[in-house]
Amino acid sequence: MSPAGCRPPSWRTASPRVRMTPDTAARYVYQRLLGYSRPYWGRLMIAVVASIVVAASDVSVARLVQPLVDKVIVSGNRTWMTFVPVVILAISAVKSVGRYLQEYYIKTAGQLVVQDVRNHFYRHSLALSMGYYSRSASGGLMSRILNDVNVMQRSTADVLVDGVRESFTLIGLVGLTFYTDWRLAVVAFMVLPVSLVPATAIGRKIKANTRRGQHALGDLTARLQETYSGIKVVKSFGREPFETARFEDENLGYYRFMRKVIKYDAATKPVVEMLGAFGIAGVAWYGLHRVFSGALTQGELFSFIAAMGMMYSPFKRLTRVNNQVQKSIGAAERVFEVLDVVPEVREAADAVDPGAVRGAVIFDHVTFAYEEKPVLRDFSLTVSPGEVIAVVGPSGAGKSTVLGLLSRFYDPQAGTITIDGIDIRRFSFAALSRNIAMVDQEVVLFHDTVMNNIRYGRPEAADEEVHRAAVQAYADDYIHRLPRGYDTVIGDRGVRLSGGQRQRLCIARAILHDAPILLLDEATSALDTESEAIVQQALANLMRGRTTFLVAHRLSTVRHAHRILVLDDGRLVEAGTRDELLAGGGLYRRLHDLQFENDDPAAQ
Ligand SMILES: Nc1ncnc2c1ncn2[C@@H]1O[C@H](COP(=O)(O)OP(=O)(O)O)[C@@H](O)[C@H]1O
Ligand SMILES: [Mg+2]
Repeated sequence: MSPAGCRPPSWRTASPRVRMTPDTAARYVYQRLLGYSRPYWGRLMIAVVASIVVAASDVSVARLVQPLVDKVIVSGNRTWMTFVPVVILAISAVKSVGRYLQEYYIKTAGQLVVQDVRNHFYRHSLALSMGYYSRSASGGLMSRILNDVNVMQRSTADVLVDGVRESFTLIGLVGLTFYTDWRLAVVAFMVLPVSLVPATAIGRKIKANTRRGQHALGDLTARLQETYSGIKVVKSFGREPFETARFEDENLGYYRFMRKVIKYDAATKPVVEMLGAFGIAGVAWYGLHRVFSGALTQGELFSFIAAMGMMYSPFKRLTRVNNQVQKSIGAAERVFEVLDVVPEVREAADAVDPGAVRGAVIFDHVTFAYEEKPVLRDFSLTVSPGEVIAVVGPSGAGKSTVLGLLSRFYDPQAGTITIDGIDIRRFSFAALSRNIAMVDQEVVLFHDTVMNNIRYGRPEAADEEVHRAAVQAYADDYIHRLPRGYDTVIGDRGVRLSGGQRQRLCIARAILHDAPILLLDEATSALDTESEAIVQQALANLMRGRTTFLVAHRLSTVRHAHRILVLDDGRLVEAGTRDELLAGGGLYRRLHDLQFENDDPAAQ
């Protein structure tokens, strides 16, 4: 793929500040869509030349009707009798070659354009901030990249194929009729301006309903993704009938919009036909007058009528092209909507890569809100390299948010976060992610081999390094017992692993990533006591020598920590060693007593 093809066209930054009418907005969207075809102008030029050949062939055939009637039928000229069929064959041969070239080049150009739009969309969507993902269902993004881009694809290709060829044919045929008898032509085309009114009205309806339909399809995709990934809950609560009914309902909603699109599409043909009949009737009436008065030969009248008859199909196709353009605009609007989202967290223009950091982390008066309500208020913290900090507190206190801010999933509204004295907003994204390893409560493994899953953060790591990381994560033993060892494919459609096994793979991944800063967010809370004991040892291996933030739900897991922070409602309420906090009798003491009662059967 050429890089130029993926780069957004330059005018996409020209965001429309002025108020636009629906028509100018649609034109802007369409121009922008066409901008993606710029890299393929070579193909387009070939197709345009080929389509001029096709159009010229059609017009020549109509032109040939005149000598056929006047010279052959009326005058009985023998030379013309053999000449005309041969010329017809020759013209058809030229036309066939032209049509093939035109179709091939225009359709491949259409596919390439759509491929670029899709690549651009995917790259952009991955660059969007976590905030965007938490606000919108990922099914919606999937629907846009699959369904909407497909609608755009059909239309860009169709528009270019049909639009160019049919316009040329139409212009040639109209030219021929004017050349034959301009008075008759005026009569024939009087209806034309009238036909534009219904055609534009229909186009507008189609665009609006396509947009709504694509939106409904997006909802449908989001619903699918949700139920399939939550299938366990659906089944265990016996909600299949409810989900089915809800799906059928939304599916019906989609049908309702598509029915409107079909309705207006279907109305196009009869409307064009009816208007065409007026034109033909006018020609029949006035044309016969002209022939009887001797102003026109019979051959000229037939040639004229043949041209009019041949005009019908390009005219019909052009109105269909208009409908397609409107559909494409409806879908393109949804695609551009996402492309126009500016990621909230951006890499600085003068971003630096300080290499491997020592791991001194400072939160300096950090205040942060996802929406309006501050989740973290005036949070300050200084961590030395290699220090293990446990973060505890009630759920919703803001523990994960602290880790998210350090990872730059979000930027704080006030205050700064530094690593080794450098503001993390000045780190390049690559440098930041190389210096931070994360093991999350939510275990994410990809449908790939064990080897590649462990290697995810460091694709260049040698096999031996992967093995060593797995040994340290206490994962090596069970990996060897898998059907194909390290080459076993796991994930959605692969071998199923237990919660503890999955978690240990994530730890191996973090060990291999070998970052100076380690973020552990309730990495063991989903495990049973036995696997937790193993995972705890794996984590102890991982934490050695690294600045570690350890978010823990079970207070028993914080014993490795040098210092414990207690968060409550976004504020740092206590900090100290375990003994200091227990002696202090504050929130930590209360949480501890509560857990001791619940966790320890001996206490009951
Ligand atoms: N993506 C988000 N969008 C909006 N609010 C959020 C988001 N993530 C967390 N919150 C809110 O922020 C607060 C702190 O969340 P979090 O840091 O996850 O708490 P903890 O990890 O301590 O349980 C909670 O009130 C939660 O509802
Ligand atoms: Mg959390």
